[in-house]
Amino acid sequence: MAHERTLAILKPDCVRKDLIGEVLRRIQEAGFSVCALKMVNMTKAEAEGFYAVHEGKPFFDELTDFMSSGPCVPVVLEKDNAIADFRELIGATNPEEADDGTIRSDFADSIGENIVHGSDSVENGLKEAGYFFPEHEIVANKA
Ligand code: PPS
Repeated sequence: MAHERTLAILKPDCVRKDLIGEVLRRIQEAGFSVCALKMVNMTKAEAEGFYAVHEGKPFFDELTDFMSSGPCVPVVLEKDNAIADFRELIGATNPEEADDGTIRSDFADSIGENIVHGSDSVENGLKEAGYFFPEHEIVANKA
């Protein structure tokens, strides 16, 4: 199994609901190593840059408004099989479709306000981590 890097973002709803600690606890309990972490308040333009792949989709404006509506917490995580395992831990994008016990099933309100982002491929994990952190800020935690 390959050691992989994924980028999580604890979204503005996660921060507003005081769930940073609980969500990070679940992530660490699932075996992910935290390799970089900070709190940022994205501008609309920064959110548009991060989600550029979705430009033109009907939800793009709502998504980027939401992601720039308050502070969020980007976190670089590493683990064997990190991409798939993280998406399993957080559950489906729409919390109504997320399996019981997943982070989105337990805490998310809607497909837009869904608590946490996770990269969808190894390639995007590396790219998205680089959107928030220069390589020297990503620390080798546990191997
Ligand atoms: S797609 O088109 O299948 O690639 O999109 P999807 O993976 O379902 O969602 C991509 C991100 O857009 C957010 N999203 C929305 N935000 C607001 N309103 C609506 N209707 C909506 N639909 C999807 C969704 O939360 C995803 O955010 P990330 O941060 O990537 O999880």
